Amino acid sequence: MSNQKIKELVDRRKTARQGGGQKRIEAQHAKGKLTARERIDLLLDNGSFEEFDMFVRHRCTNFGMENTRFDGDGVVTGMGTIDGRLVYVAAQDFTVTGGSMSETMAGKICKVMDMAVRVGAPFIALNDSGGARIQEGICSLAGYGEIFERNILASGVIPQISGIFGPCAGGAVYSPALTDFTIMIKDTSYMFLTGPGVVKTVTGENVTQEQLGGANVHTRKSGVAHFAVESEQEGIEKIKALLSFMPSNNRETAPFIETADPAGRVDDTLNDIIPDNPNQAYDMYEVIGSIVDDGKFLEVQRSWAKNIIIGFAHMNGRSVGVVANQPKTLAGALDINASRKAARFVRFCDAFNIPLVTLVDVPGFLCGTQQEHGGIISNGAKLLYAFGEATVPKVTVTLRKSYGGAHITMSCKQLRGDINYAWPSANIAVMGAEGAVDVLYSKELKAITDPQERKKASDQRKEEYNRKFCNPYSAAEYGYIDDIIEPRNTRFRVIRALEQLDGKKVESPWKKHDNLPL
Ligand code: HXC
Repeated sequence: MSNQKIKELVDRRKTARQGGGQKRIEAQHAKGKLTARERIDLLLDNGSFEEFDMFVRHRCTNFGMENTRFDGDGVVTGMGTIDGRLVYVAAQDFTVTGGSMSETMAGKICKVMDMAVRVGAPFIALNDSGGARIQEGICSLAGYGEIFERNILASGVIPQISGIFGPCAGGAVYSPALTDFTIMIKDTSYMFLTGPGVVKTVTGENVTQEQLGGANVHTRKSGVAHFAVESEQEGIEKIKALLSFMPSNNRETAPFIETADPAGRVDDTLNDIIPDNPNQAYDMYEVIGSIVDDGKFLEVQRSWAKNIIIGFAHMNGRSVGVVANQPKTLAGALDINASRKAARFVRFCDAFNIPLVTLVDVPGFLCGTQQEHGGIISNGAKLLYAFGEATVPKVTVTLRKSYGGAHITMSCKQLRGDINYAWPSANIAVMGAEGAVDVLYSKELKAITDPQERKKASDQRKEEYNRKFCNPYSAAEYGYIDDIIEPRNTRFRVIRALEQLDGKKVESPWKKHDNLPL
């Protein structure tokens, strides 16, 4: 082969790597953003990236588009490794026609998505795009449709992670919404169906992009995104950290991470963490930090629905999904958002063979018109459904309150919970003493005219109720709790339970798919 041909290849590669050209690269940097290739360099192990379709160009001739044809056409795609594990990646290149979606660009993305599913490796999309390429009209929309369909078919088969590293507008937002985790960069990324201009025309509202769909909005108010980070570098690190807890596909288990933290480590402080006053809060993060390996916990959706905590940790090297009520927010009650948040997480863990560790301190479902009118019934049922259908090992520890429907929902024995422990401080009952006495004895108590006598009688009834139901022994008598454990031993007991459940196999009845209460 002539040197000329080799030189041509080298030159063409060099040109392709320039994307939309130096000027547009500088403009991208001036906005505080990295280019698609710089992002991929940070994401993948050094030298591991193999790019596909570097020479693909669009075929559009509308509006003079035949004169602006760049190699690669607005997205950099390929494969590489993260911590030695294969992943497929598509990073939109804003320097080429604003990263807008063309027919050929969609084809490139679909190619790597198909490869990822075929070989069973995670798919990572780094979004930075002006949306549908206007000049391509319906062909651009069709491209989105092709991607969405692949997102759907890949869901539960391979992990899919979306980084929003710039604009993500219009129907384009549905690809991240269909993936498992979405990371947004504060101040430089946003997601919305229609931008501020259209909002102004349609509703008369005046909003900025940030107010409409910035990282804070989607991680605090809507729950659409899972992480808001300060920089692109931090966003990339978050993607890598997430992957370390996941298997590459639904037929594998997550990597085992060696730990120096002894499985038998006890923590005496847990024996004193539950306050004497049942209405006083304590911090569930302290319990989680105490029982997981090295106190390391990767929390998901930290700023949204804070009354429930979800996230990944390791226990004696095994990856686990932790779901825990947080008594410090809304007393840990389950509301619409908490139910939705935890349900999706439970389903992710179940799809990818990640055992569930559930820590319960729940006074019930949040009541009131706002919740009822918002559909707490069907939203609460999502979490009930998610725990009930999950077949991964499920270990539950009830720390304090576990009342009524919320008791059932939080991975109880009857929802195929495998090992259900309780601390001696647990109250497992239909409701707390206050409410129960009110329902059962209101007539009797109202008949007592002297207020002091009435209080005395009420306290007596409450004490009687507490003695009978507000403890873990009543549930343990029926075998609904497998053992009552000392809080200080929780780490050791949960680890032993998980080890025992390693070989768990549970079949559910055949079905085309389920019909969970969406
Ligand atoms: C074609 C586009 C484009 C688009 C940007 N560009 N968006 N070209 N189709 N959708 C081009 C610009 O012409 C420009 O080309 C380059 O990309 C960079 O754009 P700028 O406007 O210079 O950048 P910036 O000032 O940073 O603004 C970025 C932006 C803005 C906010 C994203 O470009 C914008 O508002 N674009 C339109 C967004 C939009 O309405 N998209 C359609 C949404 S509806 P040159 O040649 O100058 O570099 C949708 C439906 C999807 O997407 C449905 C899926 C089911």
